[in-house]
Amino acid sequence: MNPVDRLKERVKELTALHEISKILYSNQETYERILLKIVSVIVNAFQFPEITSSRITFGIYTAQNGNFKLTKSILSSDFEVQNEKGMIEVVYLEDRPQAFCGPFLEEEKQLLDSVAQMLAVYLMRRQRDDELNKALLRKELMLKEIHHRVKNNLQIILSLLRLQEGILTDRKLKDLIKLSENRVKALSVIHEKLYGSGDLHNIDYKDCIKELLEHLLSSYSADSHNIRYELDCAKLPISIDQAIPFGLIINELVTNSIRHAFKSSQEGFIHLRINCDEKFCTLEYEDNGCGIPKEIDLKNPTTLGYQLINSLAAQIDGKKGLCEEKNGFSFHLKFPYET
Ligand SMILES: Nc1ncnc2c1ncn2[C@@H]1O[C@H](COP(=O)(O)OP(=O)(O)OP(=O)(O)O)[C@@H](O)[C@H]1O
Ligand SMILES: [Mg+2]
Repeated sequence: MNPVDRLKERVKELTALHEISKILYSNQETYERILLKIVSVIVNAFQFPEITSSRITFGIYTAQNGNFKLTKSILSSDFEVQNEKGMIEVVYLEDRPQAFCGPFLEEEKQLLDSVAQMLAVYLMRRQRDDELNKALLRKELMLKEIHHRVKNNLQIILSLLRLQEGILTDRKLKDLIKLSENRVKALSVIHEKLYGSGDLHNIDYKDCIKELLEHLLSSYSADSHNIRYELDCAKLPISIDQAIPFGLIINELVTNSIRHAFKSSQEGFIHLRINCDEKFCTLEYEDNGCGIPKEIDLKNPTTLGYQLINSLAAQIDGKKGLCEEKNGFSFHLKFPYET
């Protein structure tokens, strides 16, 4: 072979390797499609493409050119991936002069070995990716199942509490059960929003708090028909671990405003402002009601509501404060958020 032809052969081989690496890099297709593409590229890399045919076998997969048949001019290279054997075969469908390996060139043998190696590395990586994806899918299904069960269980607790509330005649006891009902409902709203969002790190927390507020206002509709609220809230990058305690604190604050702050004839206004900088999340809560009665010491609470607020705030490392000079009620909470 003259030097120019030899050079042309090398260019063909390098082009084939380049094409194959592009096919393997694009990764998205089925095993069959990828093997089939490689088979056609290989053919063009050989000295006599018009009489060349190729086949790749790997495990249960076989890809071959339409005219492939075993002949006496055969060149092959095998590989193994996780105990599964693979082979690339190239045949000449007609006789050609003898060269390094039957009618094939030394460089053609080297090319086939390189393709086999590239394919083995690719298949190994792809099998690992497939296994990882399957494991991820199993975990997601499990998480969905757990979420579903938590949701159902919360629903059962809610129904039980509602039944109990319906049976009771004592106003005070009914009220107590309703408070518990609303705490469970708050949990279920936050839980539902968190797990329903699909992306646990990208929660529309504003929507979540809005639903909480709407629910509380409708649940105390007799006392709340004159109450308006405003909610300023940016997208919150907080974790699930913080979202639940934070939501429960808001639930206690809003419940208190509805139950204690306003005389029935008064126009009530509740304002929630939630801000985040790089490190902290801040809640500023206000209502324009009567304010905390003098005799009540919320620093040492004896009632469940503020005991809950204190322990939930501690759970998220929150620093809280009440502003007593203002008219009405005002509460601040600042906590470092975890994403
Ligand atoms: N926004 C508010 N406006 C006026 N008074 C309030 C307000 N929030 C709380 N209070 C007063 O503080 C008291 C303590 O609140 P806390 O939430 O701890 O208990 P509670 O609401 O009475 O009962 P629970 O333990 O069921 O929540 C209330 O009883 C009420 O007198
Ligand atoms: Mg309360």
